[in-house]
Amino acid sequence: MATRDAGAVPGGWQVQRIRIGEVDYPYYYGVDCLDLVLQELAALDADLFVVVTDDTVLELHGQALLPGLRALAGVEVISHPPGEAMKTLPVLAADLERVLAAGATRRSVVVGLGGGVPGNLAGVIAALLFRGVRLVHIPTTTTAAMDSVLSLKQAINSAIGKNHIGTYLPPYAVFTDVALLATLPDRELRSGLCEAAKNCLAIRPEALPRLREVLAGGELSTPAALLWLLDESVRAKSSVTVDDAREQRTGLVLEYGHTVGHAVELADHRRRGNDGVSHGEAIAFGMVVAATIAHRRGWLPAEIVELHEEVVSALGAPLRLPAGLTVDDVMDVVRDDNKRGYLPPCSESIAFVLLRELGRPAGDPGLPLVAVRLAEVREALEVVQSREPVLTGADGEVA
Ligand SMILES: NC(=O)c1ccc[n+]([C@@H]2O[C@H](COP(=O)([O-])OP(=O)(O)OC[C@H]3O[C@@H](n4cnc5c(N)ncnc54)[C@H](O)[C@@H]3O)[C@@H](O)[C@H]2O)c1
Repeated sequence: MATRDAGAVPGGWQVQRIRIGEVDYPYYYGVDCLDLVLQELAALDADLFVVVTDDTVLELHGQALLPGLRALAGVEVISHPPGEAMKTLPVLAADLERVLAAGATRRSVVVGLGGGVPGNLAGVIAALLFRGVRLVHIPTTTTAAMDSVLSLKQAINSAIGKNHIGTYLPPYAVFTDVALLATLPDRELRSGLCEAAKNCLAIRPEALPRLREVLAGGELSTPAALLWLLDESVRAKSSVTVDDAREQRTGLVLEYGHTVGHAVELADHRRRGNDGVSHGEAIAFGMVVAATIAHRRGWLPAEIVELHEEVVSALGAPLRLPAGLTVDDVMDVVRDDNKRGYLPPCSESIAFVLLRELGRPAGDPGLPLVAVRLAEVREALEVVQSREPVLTGADGEVA
């Protein structure tokens, strides 16, 4: 659970301690606070900073951080073209060799600078180097700031599926300067906020009225809204992981929307590479499918499905499968979902987070998963695909 007593730190940022199971780490966040970040990094007494990032982030924000970092210790920058392609075993292997060749020791610190992709790669590198060195995250996307850094999960992808190869490693500290998010393309900004919206729907429905207000007022990208959403995400995520560091029990509610979402993301990524649907958009679509399944089971009323559609659409996420992707394409991938193994094996069904009501997942509270027949998933996808468009974007397209 996040402890709130730490509160404001002199100099214009907040710190909360994130407690997940046995571990806890500080999460600092504010606006225009990179100088404070450097002060904290100086205290780590590192012999080498291994900065794992992507080329876009490096170009946009590298200069704001790297000179100050170089004044503290050696710096090895590992940067790749943006996108999931860096979350692979060959890239990981080459990066590890390079970091070792650069002279990394147990006193080195791996810094994940960027979105969830470099953050995840940084996490796996930090976990494997000398069986674990200190990991610091400086997230620059909403997805990373509000989701991935609030987790101990560090993973890369296999050829079979997303996040299949990884481990658990707590970050040593997280530093979010929301000023770095100002350069985010609108689509990326909204993508991360889909996860924040997921938290409101599945964990903290009391935050929904303010979320709807923020969405309706078009205030999503203001520092005030981002800091509020960050705070909300910390509360929601902490509340379900405090006693479940591995996100294998209560924390599984965070997988809301992910079963179909991951399948859509992976299938589209295989087809269109980095032009494919974003992680958050895919998860948002997956939430609409999950709500539809729950509605067809008689668990959720139609208004709650419509609320899902309203929020998902206002976030600019799709209410249909991306053009060119078929229900069959998604069904081919959905079987490989990484929640396999939580429920008794069955070739005809998969484990799913479904809601009984907003903020209340179905199933055992200690294991909020239910078996959903593959046929139900297919039917719900078909219903979603054929549903009358109720909301349209500015250009008249279904949002
Ligand atoms: N460990 C976890 O618990 C967890 C949770 C959620 C997501 N994830 C992982 O995170 C990944 C998705 O994260 P993401 O959406 O941040 O992807 P990402 O890291 O690929 O970032 C998205 C895009 O935004 C660009 N970008 C990043 N920061 C920017 C900035 N400040 N200004 C302009 N452009 C910027 C990047 O270059 C990239 O093109 C997935 O691989 C997912 O599996 C992990």
